[in-house]
Amino acid sequence: MSEKNWDRVPIDAQSIDAPLSLAAIFLVVTVPSEQTALAKVCSVLGELDDLVKTVGFRDLSGHLSCIAGIGHDLWNRLRPDARPKELKPFAAIKGAVHDAPSTSGDLLFHIRSERPDMCFEFERILLDSLGTAVTVVDEVSGFRYFDARDLLGFVDGTANPTGLDLPASALVGDEDAAFAGGSYVVVQKYLHDLNAWKQTPTHLQEEIIGRTKIDNIEIDDDDAPRKSHKSLATIVDADGNEHDILRDNMPFGRPGRQEFGTYFIGYSRYLWVTEKMLQRMYVGEPPGAYDRLLDFSTPHTGTTFFAPARTLLQTLVQAAD
Ligand code: HEM
Repeated sequence: MSEKNWDRVPIDAQSIDAPLSLAAIFLVVTVPSEQTALAKVCSVLGELDDLVKTVGFRDLSGHLSCIAGIGHDLWNRLRPDARPKELKPFAAIKGAVHDAPSTSGDLLFHIRSERPDMCFEFERILLDSLGTAVTVVDEVSGFRYFDARDLLGFVDGTANPTGLDLPASALVGDEDAAFAGGSYVVVQKYLHDLNAWKQTPTHLQEEIIGRTKIDNIEIDDDDAPRKSHKSLATIVDADGNEHDILRDNMPFGRPGRQEFGTYFIGYSRYLWVTEKMLQRMYVGEPPGAYDRLLDFSTPHTGTTFFAPARTLLQTLVQAAD
């Protein structure tokens, strides 16, 4: 699948393996209950691939890509009789100290490009086409921060699966054949308390994340009293197999408003893997030993979607239209 020549033609819509980018927009919308709104949304989703080409062809080196994810409730309106096995609304988590809220969202558009203006142009035309058929509930413009660091100063994304591990971790396979090639997408918008983080000594920050800050070396914390973020987010099943997800987190912020954030986005073949990561982060492993990253990072949204493969998206919206 990664034999594609990204520089010759625009990137197909729904390409989860599209290259990581310097800029991204995360757009979450809801679709009002009227049938006319649904029909409009279907017709725009049916033309998503053309829109990527329309904007993407203007600078192929901009590597514009867009993935649309569909939430549980909207999916039920489109195809109540056939749903990806694990698709359900984001389950809120109540930890002893930190909570993860569940927030609304019928559609997610994950727009990536090397150029912020291409992301902007794509979003502008997309929203223009959707008109009153959607209500925007969240819109975040993210940027690559130096050597892929989050605003806490750590390199974010290193342990992502690559090569053949990427589809094996991020794309549904034969276990749910009708939805093969699609992916479960979980998003959470986090805001950081950077003042508190700055007052935390670097060695403690490194213990919390599980990697060194400057040179990004993994820290072995098998015998440490508290597990790091990296270890809590490592999922190993009863047979000893590790289950990864594909992350494309992006920093965002407005220093003038003291707003500093990380937009978390995780693509997974099995939704339970991302859910288990969240359980371990919020409830802790053992329970109580939660992820101390949460002492400095608060989630303001939490939504689950399913991004169907391009051909399935076409069939889905044509049938509903
Ligand atoms: C404030 C939000 C977050 C920040 C700033 C953050 C940052 C980081 C950093 C710096 C690393 C180490 C480097 C790397 O491998 O990428 C990491 C690893 C990881 N994070 Fe996060 N993360 C956040 C939220 C999450 C959430 C919500 C999940 C899952 C639901 C998650 C899953 C992972 C995974 C799977 C790894 C790799 C673990 C391994 O080494 O195998 N992260 N994260």
